[in-house]
Amino acid sequence: MSLRTKRFAQAEETGVEKQVLVEERAIKVGRNDPCPCGSGLKYKKCCLGKESSDPEGLKEKYLRDYGIRLKNSKDVKGIREAGRLAIELLDLVEKKVGPGVMTEEINRMVHEYTVRRGARPAPLNYRGFPKSVCVSVNEEICHGIPGKRMLKEGDIVNIDVTPVLDGYYADASKTFFVGEPGPEGAKIVEVARECLKAGMSLARPGNQIGDIGWAIQTHAEAKGCSVVREFVGHGVGFEFHEPPQIPHYGQKGKGIRLVPGMVFTIEPMINLGEKDLRILEDNWTAVTRDGSLSAQFEQTILITEEGFESLTPYDLG
Ligand code: MF3
Ligand code: CO
Ligand code: CO
Repeated sequence: MSLRTKRFAQAEETGVEKQVLVEERAIKVGRNDPCPCGSGLKYKKCCLGKESSDPEGLKEKYLRDYGIRLKNSKDVKGIREAGRLAIELLDLVEKKVGPGVMTEEINRMVHEYTVRRGARPAPLNYRGFPKSVCVSVNEEICHGIPGKRMLKEGDIVNIDVTPVLDGYYADASKTFFVGEPGPEGAKIVEVARECLKAGMSLARPGNQIGDIGWAIQTHAEAKGCSVVREFVGHGVGFEFHEPPQIPHYGQKGKGIRLVPGMVFTIEPMINLGEKDLRILEDNWTAVTRDGSLSAQFEQTILITEEGFESLTPYDLG
């Protein structure tokens, strides 16, 4: 039963006129029937799957059924501001990245700029993570700890920032070239970037979480690359990691339906070789098991009535 039909059913208690309406509407609405909202459009082109007609009921349902906290316009404003800071951080480090730079220096820049803007870097002390940013080089998939490693010509490096501003979290990352990339570096970075674009292109109300992973996996595998399974996108905004999980692989037509007010990351980690990983002795750094290159791009997105809005918008080409 569509949510709209349920709402008419609730009206039953309140009056006789409405009761007539209930009986009319309680018939199952076909995909090609006129939409019961009166728009004149077909049901499938209008309210089917959107369930946007009852924002309060939806908020309760998503929390009760999935633990998902939908965001209101004030929340979105806050996350958008944190997102603006995330972009500033990525722009700042992009200028710094180059041969001879120690990853520890990137950490210092991110930490200092974040604090200067009155914000806090979420990674620092998160479940024991010792630094303010993740810096993952070449075969490192994610969660690289900044330190004495020196960037060298031809490396690729993912920098993942999560500032908390006014209590709101935004999470974003990019993979940069250190100097001129070799053909493998150029390829994996391009495919990872396209994978994020492919996932975002299916982010709209009525679609399902599985659609996003399907689009990403299909593109990565068509290019002969593989998708990391152990780490996924996630709800974000009030906390660093909230429900739901957003796998970067999966099947079309599976999973929770996307609704306006959902805020989550899409952050595909794409390997040039096999998908398998191992974790280094530091208990954080994930690396490809076969030593092949890995790249990642991440944005925080909001599902809107029309589609999506990136709250950490940067150009994906
Ligand atoms: N920013 C990462 C993500 O995209 C999480 C890093 S957790 C940390 O979800 F502890 F390593 F910072
Ligand atoms: Co994330
Ligand atoms: Co991140």
